[in-house]
Amino acid sequence: MRLDVFTLFPAAFEWYVTQVHVRKALELGHELAFTNYRDHTPLSHLQVDDTPYGGGAGMVLRIDVVAAALEAAFGVGAPAVRESRRVVELTPKGRQFDDRLAEELAEGDLVLLCGRYEGIDERVAHLVSDRVSIGPYVLSGGEVAAMAVSDAVLRKLPGVISNPESLVDESFAPGLEGGTEYPQYTRPAEFRGWTVPEVLVSGDHGAIARWRAEQVRRAAGGTD
Ligand code: ADE
Repeated sequence: MRLDVFTLFPAAFEWYVTQVHVRKALELGHELAFTNYRDHTPLSHLQVDDTPYGGGAGMVLRIDVVAAALEAAFGVGAPAVRESRRVVELTPKGRQFDDRLAEELAEGDLVLLCGRYEGIDERVAHLVSDRVSIGPYVLSGGEVAAMAVSDAVLRKLPGVISNPESLVDESFAPGLEGGTEYPQYTRPAEFRGWTVPEVLVSGDHGAIARWRAEQVRRAAGGTD
């Protein structure tokens, strides 16, 4: 897949792109590109934002700036970009991000538009296919949200997680019927009197599987 992130702060992703699964995705031939809106602004003095019509606090990212950045990256009119890929605005007003949406977004090329300040001019609706929120709270910008979304999406690409078994019992995976993963323990078997459940060191794989299934069921609020 090709993943494009549009942001005023590409430097925010410097650590993220060094992460092993991101590097793995690139090795597998997937592409990751960052576009700084400011590099493509048609306005003088590298302007990218403006005061809101009607008054109010803060600044709004201009729609002409967002459109110019999309056009520079894809070489087509900005509204046409969503014809070939999902174009996602990250905004607290969007659809709540979840594992199912991560699966969907991993199916093709993807654009993530990060807002800043008071967000992007509402007319961005003419350019996007989706508006996505990572939770009911307001972040200072879309960058952290873009990292969360792209992280969850890249993990879905075949081969990115080198041990596919990691995905089978991962939280929200079909193997867990959408539940969260069972608790994990490692050595030492006892620390400050805190012990590991006996069954996990029993070597009885059937009992371990039953114990884990029970934990998943309990976390989901099951009763029987
Ligand atoms: N930008 C600001 N807050 C956000 C949120 N909760 N989700 C996605 N993008 C955002």
